[in-house]
Amino acid sequence: MSGLTRTSAGTGPDPDTRSGPGAATDGEAVGTAPMAVADFAAVAQRVLPAEVWDFIAGGSGAELTLAANRAALDRIGLVPRVLAGASGCDTEAALPGAPTAAMPVAVAPMAYQQLAHEDGELATARAAAAAGVPFALSMLSSRPIESVTALGGITWFQLYCLRDRGATAELVVRAEEAGCAALVVTVDVPRMARRLRDLRNGFALPTDVAAANLDPASVAETHDRRPGVSAVAEHTARAFAAGLSWDDISMLRERTRLPLIVKGLLDPRDAALAADLGADAVVVSNHGGRQLDSAVAAVDMLPAVREATPARCRVLLDSGVRGGTDVLKALVLGASGVLLGRPALWGLAAGGEAGVRQVLDLLAVELRSALELAGCADLDAVRLLTARVPDARTYGGGVR
Ligand SMILES: Cc1cc2nc3c(=O)[nH]c(=O)nc-3n(C[C@H](O)[C@H](O)[C@H](O)COP(=O)(O)O)c2cc1C
Repeated sequence: MSGLTRTSAGTGPDPDTRSGPGAATDGEAVGTAPMAVADFAAVAQRVLPAEVWDFIAGGSGAELTLAANRAALDRIGLVPRVLAGASGCDTEAALPGAPTAAMPVAVAPMAYQQLAHEDGELATARAAAAAGVPFALSMLSSRPIESVTALGGITWFQLYCLRDRGATAELVVRAEEAGCAALVVTVDVPRMARRLRDLRNGFALPTDVAAANLDPASVAETHDRRPGVSAVAEHTARAFAAGLSWDDISMLRERTRLPLIVKGLLDPRDAALAADLGADAVVVSNHGGRQLDSAVAAVDMLPAVREATPARCRVLLDSGVRGGTDVLKALVLGASGVLLGRPALWGLAAGGEAGVRQVLDLLAVELRSALELAGCADLDAVRLLTARVPDARTYGGGVR
C-alpha cells in the first residue's frame, strides 16, 4: 500500500463501528476475538490507513442513506414461531448460478480489494468458496477475472457498462470464458456520487493497486492524487457510460447465456421491467448508501419489489446487512438471499482469507441461531414467519 500510512483516524462519524446486530457498544471491549460480524468494523478501522477506511466505510453526501439502511433494518421486528419442532437448521439456499449455496448469502462486488489486504480478491474468493457461497467479482477488481475463477469457487462477474461498448462486450465474453456463473450488471452508478470523505482526503489509488481487468492506460488517472478530488470518481466519470437505458439490459440479455442479475434498483416498477427483459434476479440496493444520498433504505422497498416481480425472478437485498438476524429479516420480507458488502472487507483487512472466512462463519452461526430461535428448521419454514415493518409506505409516482 505504497503512499498510504496506517492510522485509524478517519474523517467522519462511523455508524458501522457501533451498530449492527450484537455489535460491541462504546466502552465495551471488542478484544481479540470478535463475537459478532459487526465487531469486525472496529478491527478493520484500527488496521487500515485512515483514507482507505473512509473509502470503504463512507457513503455519499451527508451519509443519510448509509445511516438509514441500518436504522431501517433495526426497526423491523421478527415474530418468532414456537413449538415448531425445529432443532438444528439447514441453511442451504438456491441462488443464481449456485443452486446449493451453503446459506442465502453472496459476497457483494466491491472494487479494489488490495486496498484492504495485499491478497485482495483472491483472499475473499477463497474464503467465499470455503464457506460455500458465491463471490461477486467487481469489474474494478485489483486481481484479474481468470486468477479468481481459477480458484474453483462460484464467481459472479459484476459489470459496469463502459462508454467503450466494445470493451464492455469483451468483458462479458471474458467472464463467460473464465467460467463465471452469473453476470451482475450494476445500474445505480450513472456517475459516482459525491463521496465527501474521498473528496476531503483527495483519495487516489496507491501505485500497487489498480483495476486489473481494464486497459492500464485507461486507468492511469486513478493514481493521480489532487486536493479536493477523488481520482477513482474522476476515472468512473470518464469511463462509465452515461445515459444507460433499458435497451442496455436487453442488449446484455441477448449477449450472455449466464443468469443475469440487475443490481441497484429500489422502485418496484424498475424491478418489474428488469424481470420483463429477462433478468433472473434483481438486487434491491442503494449501493450501501454510496450513490443517491437520501435514497430510501433498501430493505424498506423489499416487500413492494417482491410483490411486483414474478416468482421466476429472484429478489436479493443488500445495503446494511450486518448479521444473521438481518439475513432472516430479508428472507421474511421476500428475498431469496442477501449480498454482504463492507463486513467482508472488514474481515479481509483484519486477517486476509482467514478474516473473511471468520466473518462468513460467524454470519452462518448467527443465521442458524436466528432461524432456530424463530422456530424454523430450514429456509422453507421462513415463509411461515412474519415481520413487523413500521410505516414503510411510499407516496407519489404516476404510472411508468
Ligand atoms: C468499498 C466498496 C466498493 C464497492 N464497489 C462496488 C463495485 O465495484 N461494484 C458494485 O456493483 N458495487 C460496489 N459496491 C457496493 C456493494 O456491492 C454493495 O452494494 C454495498 O456495499 C452493500 O452495502 P453494505 O456495504 O452496507 O453491505 C462497493 C461497496 C464498497 C463498500
